[in-house]
Amino acid sequence: MKIAPSVLTADFSNLREELQSIRSADYIHLDIMDGHFVPNISFGPAIAKSIEEQTHLPLDIHLMVTDPLSWIPKFAFPQTKFITVHIEANHIQETVLAIQKEKIGVGIAIKPKTPIRHMIPYLNDVSLVLVMTVEPGFGGQSFMIDMMDKVRELVKIRKENGLHFLIEIDGGVNEETILIAKDAGVDVAVAGSYLFNMEDREKGMESLR
Ligand code: DX5
Ligand code: ZN
Repeated sequence: MKIAPSVLTADFSNLREELQSIRSADYIHLDIMDGHFVPNISFGPAIAKSIEEQTHLPLDIHLMVTDPLSWIPKFAFPQTKFITVHIEANHIQETVLAIQKEKIGVGIAIKPKTPIRHMIPYLNDVSLVLVMTVEPGFGGQSFMIDMMDKVRELVKIRKENGLHFLIEIDGGVNEETILIAKDAGVDVAVAGSYLFNMEDREKGMESLR
C-alpha cells in the first residue's frame, strides 16, 4: 500500500519539520478547498509551492473546488505528480485536457453519494481515481466502509478494460480501516489526522504499509 500523508492536520507554523517527519511517504497529499465546493477553505498555490520547495516527494494535489479549470496551471509544479479534480465540479472534460497539457497525471475524485457510473467516460484518460471515504471538507472524520463497494467496482472495471489507473482512498484512514481498504483493492491511502496526531510518523506510515 502506498501512503500519501495529507498535510491538512499538520502544524503549518512548522512546515519544514512536519515535512521532515514524513520523509519516507510515497506522495504528499495537498487538500485545496475553495469554501464553495466544500464548506471550508484551506490554502492555495503559494503555500503549495512552498511545500514543494521543502520536499523532494511527488505531490498529489486534490482540488475540492467548483471551478478547477483556471487553477490547473497554478498547481502545475515540477514535482506535481497528480492533479485530482472532482467529477461533481464544473467543466471536467476541459479540465482533464488542461491537466494532460501540463503533462501531469489526471486524477478524478468522487464524493460518497455520487455513483461510479458518472466517471466511466473519463476512465481511459486517468492515472488515478480517488474514492472519498468521508464527505470532503474536513480531516478527522470516520471512514465510510460502504465506499469499498466502489473500490471493488473500479477494480473490476480496470481489469475488464485493461486499464492501469491507481485507486486511492481519502478520509478516516487508520491502522484498522486500512486493512479493509487493502482487502478491497486500494493502491494508495491518504492519511491525515491519524499520522499527524502521532509522535512518530515514520512508524505510523510503516504500520499503515
Ligand atoms: C478531506 C480531505 C482529506 C483529509 C483526510 O476533505 O480530502 O485529505 O485531510 O483527513 P483524515 O485522514 O484525518 O480523515
Ligand atoms: Zn484529500
